[in-house]
Amino acid sequence: AKILVLHGPNLNLLGVREPDVYGRETLSDINASLSARAQAAGHDLSWFQSNAEHELIARIHQARDEGTAIVLINPAAFTHTSVAIRDALAGVAIPFIEIHLSNPHAREPFRHKSYLSDLAIGVISGFGGDSYRLALEAALSRLATPAT
Ligand code: DQA
Repeated sequence: AKILVLHGPNLNLLGVREPDVYGRETLSDINASLSARAQAAGHDLSWFQSNAEHELIARIHQARDEGTAIVLINPAAFTHTSVAIRDALAGVAIPFIEIHLSNPHAREPFRHKSYLSDLAIGVISGFGGDSYRLALEAALSRLATPAT
């Protein structure tokens, strides 16, 4: 099945950006580990990072045309601001898992609100790069045993 991983704004700086909060792993490290795992499980994983809300929205629309089975998304700061990304995900009706490297609930109050969580299958936060890997494991097990 097709799996799409979306990374929101500033995640291109991973490894350099506030390593105490986000870890030392780079985005390419994370993408490489996810691609390898998905491929070993017989799936087709793509990833996309953008700092622009409209590009993330366009990629979500494209995912529908491609028949993407599941989306893993770290919306980064758009988590806390973007009705438009919420509406895009709702609009394409592709099940998605929300991911955060940090635990937003242990941080500033403005990070406690997510525009996506109530639509997500689930949310995985606080485990650094492992948040993505844990989300992928959850996606793989869901693809193996589709929810009825
Ligand atoms: C983040 C948490 C957000 O609050 C923040 O704006 C980010 C990254 C995370 O992965 O921990 O950019 O989504």
